[in-house]
Amino acid sequence: MRRTRPVHLILLLTALLCPRLGEASPQTAAPAQSASPMPKVRLLATGGTISNRAGGRLSAEELIRSMPGLERYARPKFEQFANVASSQLTLKQWLDLARRINGLFKDDPDLSGIVVTSGTDTLEETAYFLDLTVKSDKPVVVVGSMRNPSTLGYEGAANLLDGFRVAAEPASRGKGVLVVLNDEINSAREVTKTDALRLHTFQSRDYGVLGVVDADRVVYYRAPVTRHTKESEFDVSSIEELPRVDVVLVYQGATGDIIKAMVDQGAKGIVIASAGAGATSGTQGEGMQYAAAKGVFVVTSTRTGSGRIASRRPSAMASATPQLRIAAEDLAPVKARILLMLALTRTKDGAEIQRMFTQY
Ligand code: DGL
Repeated sequence: MRRTRPVHLILLLTALLCPRLGEASPQTAAPAQSASPMPKVRLLATGGTISNRAGGRLSAEELIRSMPGLERYARPKFEQFANVASSQLTLKQWLDLARRINGLFKDDPDLSGIVVTSGTDTLEETAYFLDLTVKSDKPVVVVGSMRNPSTLGYEGAANLLDGFRVAAEPASRGKGVLVVLNDEINSAREVTKTDALRLHTFQSRDYGVLGVVDADRVVYYRAPVTRHTKESEFDVSSIEELPRVDVVLVYQGATGDIIKAMVDQGAKGIVIASAGAGATSGTQGEGMQYAAAKGVFVVTSTRTGSGRIASRRPSAMASATPQLRIAAEDLAPVKARILLMLALTRTKDGAEIQRMFTQY
């Protein structure tokens, strides 16, 4: 038998390994060849861990510079919208961000997509708010990172480059607001932060990813079928303030006086993060009846993290006004709050609000 010489072995190994090495690093991948100009993608930086460098936060411009090879995928533009932790963003800033995005798409027909950086803690809230209020089918991609720029293994630049690639990708159109971290594309409506520290924290649980960002291309496997962005009926162009909606967690022995206090402080809606499929505890039922008596909407969601609340009367609300009781369907409590806030800008009709919860 002929013996393989060492030099042949090296050549063989190189041929086998090289494509895999290329795949491992999105920055080194060549984009698809195209005669059309490079897509124009704009970054709106809002802050968060992705820019939270020790000694001073990264600016939008520094974030752009952190991505080697960006010019292979997009012509970048950028602006600093804010530079704070995600949980510090105000509802007024949400309104301004949605209006800014709508204005950019309106004023610049050449703009292919927008990337928004955000802290990860409440990223899913900002993303779902935009999912309901952006008036374009062009991609809006929300990106963050779990490790800050001063940490070994900072993944922010890789996530941001993935975000730009997704925003530049024509197949991203019409899929609602997208959340991109860890090489995965999730729907803003479905995704949630599931782990305080790990990189794979953003999950859509039972529904799974919409697609992935690989070295060779952006790949989609499915698209959301609920109403969003261009098909949304919500219009924040002239809304100065969103109605107050609070979230109440159900736990054993919970008291209803918290709910009463929320109502007395001006809440127009309350989302119950119920146990299981609608159960409340302690004297929460009394608090909910107090809310109903004051004309405050109560939306039942589940604290379980997945599953659906069907439209039917929860026992704790048996004596309350039926049209004020809404089922959250499969929306997480914090997202049910966002939908209820927007719903209340359109109507005070419970049947209409329930219709919205079945569609968005
Ligand atoms: N955990 C980050 C967030 O969700 C906060 C880090 C920061 O201060 O930017 O925004």
